[in-house]
Amino acid sequence: MALGALVFAVAFFAGALAFARSQYWDDVALAPQQPVPFSHKHHISDDGIDCRYCHSTVETSANAGFPTTHVCMTCHSQLWTEAALLAPVRQSLAENRPIDWHRVARVPDYVYFRHDIHIAKGVACVECHGRIDKMPLTYRAKAFEMKFCLECHRDPAPHLRPREAVYDFDWKPPADHAALGRRLMAEYRIRSPAELTSCGTCHR
Ligand code: HEC
Ligand code: HEC
Ligand code: HEC
Ligand code: HEC
Ligand code: HEC
Repeated sequence: MALGALVFAVAFFAGALAFARSQYWDDVALAPQQPVPFSHKHHISDDGIDCRYCHSTVETSANAGFPTTHVCMTCHSQLWTEAALLAPVRQSLAENRPIDWHRVARVPDYVYFRHDIHIAKGVACVECHGRIDKMPLTYRAKAFEMKFCLECHRDPAPHLRPREAVYDFDWKPPADHAALGRRLMAEYRIRSPAELTSCGTCHR
């Protein structure tokens, strides 16, 4: 029985690892072909649109979510209305079918992740997604390997910011960064490294 479980576990993780390598590692820094070449750089840095306008559930649930076609159309029913680039957006609206975005940032199903708690505890988008505000096409900035998560979970203090700065890509830590980290650890009641690195935190 115990041996059976072990064999299963090894087979499961060997399979998971092969899948992880093929699906989740290889495409770091490569932008996949999208139905519409959506530019975060234009929409964020040039037009100043907030992440939450399009990823509206990032603070309240596990998933940040993707914008509906109606969100695009609040502007593009007036702006660039004839552009060929936006034809798939108009078609999606007309046919009432969501745009099928190619995912770039994912973890395998056996990993438990939530956005809300990270945002609430002062972990910025840039820590995990890189300079999205500068990407003309979206690519994965970090391989979400286990060690990437663990590096921070072992010692979150240097990665924390005041909550208000989570969306600020130009935020610079103050001179007394270490003191700020210690203060935020206490203020946000961050659990011990032992709890945050226990297997059950991310595999449940
Ligand atoms: C005007 C709408 C809009 C705004 C504003 C916006 N995004 Fe996006 N975002 C999208 C769309 C559409 C996609 C899917 C297409 C793509 O990957 O480029 C996406 C994809 C992403 C992805 C990749 C997710 C995946 O797994 O495919 C990340 C990460 C992301 N956005 C982060 C951000 C951050 C951080 C901000 C704020 C700094 C932001 N976005 C602002 C519309 C937006
Ligand atoms: C709040 C207004 C607003 C929303 C919402 C919006 N856009 Fe845009 N979009 C713009 C503006 C303004 C431009 C012109 C960009 C520029 O040149 O700075 C633009 C340009 C574009 C372009 C032309 C290429 C480029 O980036 O210059 C594409 C494609 C595009 N948007 C796709 C989308 C999609 C897809 C969505 C929904 C996920 C969306 N937009 C939502 C305002 C918006
Ligand atoms: C601690 C790391 C971390 C932080 C901080 C973070 N993300 Fe993510 N993000 C992830 C991971 C991991 C995924 C893949 C989730 C999955 O596969 O279920 C993801 C996926 C996404 C997606 C794809 C849709 C979804 O919900 O799966 C979007 C959009 C996104 N993030 C936007 C944001 C925005 C906006 C912020 C800042 C407000 C942010 N993220 C902060 C790690 C992070
Ligand atoms: C830059 C720092 C950082 C990174 C990177 C990071 N986390 Fe976290 N994570 C935190 C902090 C801070 C907390 C909040 C801990 C607390 O409140 O005690 C947290 C909490 C969590 C929780 C607890 C959620 C709950 O409701 O109990 C999970 C699960 C989690 N992270 C998964 C991940 C995964 C998976 C990754 C990698 C894809 C990751 N984290 C990357 C800092 C980080
Ligand atoms: C902070 C989150 C986090 C914690 C804690 C964590 N893992 Fe993981 N683990 C991950 C992520 C993310 C992946 C996916 C890696 C990938 O896709 O490359 C993963 C993948 C794995 C894999 C698949 C193979 C591999 O190494 O990528 C195994 C096995 C594993 N974890 C075991 C464990 C064990 C045992 C513990 C406790 C000692 C643990 N994990 C604690 C986030 C975590």
